[in-house]
Amino acid sequence: MNYKIALIRGDGIGPEVVGEAVNVLEAVGRKFGHSFTYEEVLLGGCATDAVGKSYPDGTAEKCKACDAVLLGAVGGPKWGSDKPAEQRPETALLAIRKDLGLYANLRPAALRPAMADACPLKKETAEKGIDLMMVRELTGGIYFGQREKYETPDRGMEAADRMAYSEMEIERIGRRAFELARLRRKKVSSVDKANVLETSRLWRSVMHRLAEEYPDVAYEDMLVDNCAMQLVRDPGQFDVVVTENMFGDILSDEASMVTGSIGLLPSASIGDTAPGLYEPIHGSAPDIAGQDKANPIATILSVAMMLRYSFHLAEEADAVERAVDAVLDQGWRTADIAEPGVTAIGTKEMGRLICQQLA
Ligand code: NAD
Ligand code: IPM
Ligand code: MN
Repeated sequence: MNYKIALIRGDGIGPEVVGEAVNVLEAVGRKFGHSFTYEEVLLGGCATDAVGKSYPDGTAEKCKACDAVLLGAVGGPKWGSDKPAEQRPETALLAIRKDLGLYANLRPAALRPAMADACPLKKETAEKGIDLMMVRELTGGIYFGQREKYETPDRGMEAADRMAYSEMEIERIGRRAFELARLRRKKVSSVDKANVLETSRLWRSVMHRLAEEYPDVAYEDMLVDNCAMQLVRDPGQFDVVVTENMFGDILSDEASMVTGSIGLLPSASIGDTAPGLYEPIHGSAPDIAGQDKANPIATILSVAMMLRYSFHLAEEADAVERAVDAVLDQGWRTADIAEPGVTAIGTKEMGRLICQQLA
């Protein structure tokens, strides 16, 4: 079978980590007899440099013509917040998510057995195990509300970002969370700030209605500040965590570090119809770009999610995850996960070892 994948390599370490993920896809193809063809799609700062816009016309259409999208990362100081919106890479990322209707962002944070030492928490906490799925709402909330900046008569400049959620938006992400929990340890923690925000109170009421529809799934509400603390105190308590866009952005970076490094955490962004988009949760890491230092595992594990969710190739996805675990078990480490005294390997070598293990 042939699968067509849109490749958005992006900026900074994006092209480096996507390069290794493509090598892994090719290794999967050879082993299991699939072929993958690639459509290069320009998006982000590199697109601004090439055509003057970070989200060139026709980008969404190109992606929709593919079976899935693989994205590295976009952004960097060269295209900073002083630039007009259409030139900023982050604007393009939000636009592609919205245009493809990718409202559910799944970010699985699991402490891989070989990585127990990389967990910065107490030894007893790591030994209990960490395996949670962050379900982040991705096309609503403050990320997509109206933005304003205006002069006031007496307080100088003022800026405002509107945060809105409809019942429909909350219900569809909530349903995803409950359905996922059914396939896991059957617990949903819904994270909000209902003691302050009206959007959170609506969020909570919709989640409560859904919880009644899923009596087999344990349900709890948790305030976001408490959740940030609980993730460090006892992350093993979480199974599925469902939350709005910005809380999910922040909490998933926190969850990634608890499991060793931001360089390990993959994600899948899915909607109801359009192709899924797979990307590491990390950014373009300008501080290490072009130095063969980036950890490609988050992107390689994003490819495993693509195989599983978009192509329904569970055996192939398992094989990729097992290859990653085996290489980590053998003690190979990129700089972000290397203990003091351990010699780190580079992006390319990590990719090569995972491909070799797969073969
Ligand atoms: P970042 O995630 O790029 O980097 C944060 C830190 O983590 C840096 O020290 C970096 O070196 C390290 N890091 C990240 N990925 C790594 C990897 N694979 N291996 C080893 N170390 C890794 O976050 P930032 O520095 O706040 O943002 C940089 C740029 O990336 C910004 O322009 C931001 O908007 C953008 N960004 C893009 C995405 C995306 O495209 N999905 C996600 C987050 C941030
Ligand atoms: C992420 C990133 C993006 C987000 C930025 C770059 C717009 O941080 O994918 O986590 O906040 O969604
Ligand atoms: Mn983020």
